Amino acid sequence: MNQEHKQLISLMNRLHEEYSAKADRSVLKQCVESLVDYTMEHFRDEEEYMARIQYPKLETHKIIHADLIRKLQGHVQSFKTEGQLKQEFFDFLQLWLSAHIRGIDMQYAQHSKA
Ligand SMILES: [Fe+2]
Ligand SMILES: [Fe+2]
Repeated sequence: MNQEHKQLISLMNRLHEEYSAKADRSVLKQCVESLVDYTMEHFRDEEEYMARIQYPKLETHKIIHADLIRKLQGHVQSFKTEGQLKQEFFDFLQLWLSAHIRGIDMQYAQHSKA
């Protein structure tokens, strides 16, 4: 899963770089779409993995994933209607990064080691 987290982080970084470089909207849109697709794929993989290791907090983790996807899609929607990315979107990604990957995901990693 670490490999997937690295890939997710690199997609987020790429989006931020393109945004900072004032890339075309079509480029940003493409970056956003790759990020969304990969996020869904990652959550699916992660949930399968947690089921395999019989992680006891799987259901709670699934709820958190669903909530993150809902929020992510909300940001994507506002990007599509307004035609530009907002700082809040990056704040959300930043928060997700630290709170989810470094916090919540570390809990099942601990469980798999035990
Ligand atoms: Fe994760
Ligand atoms: Fe997760």
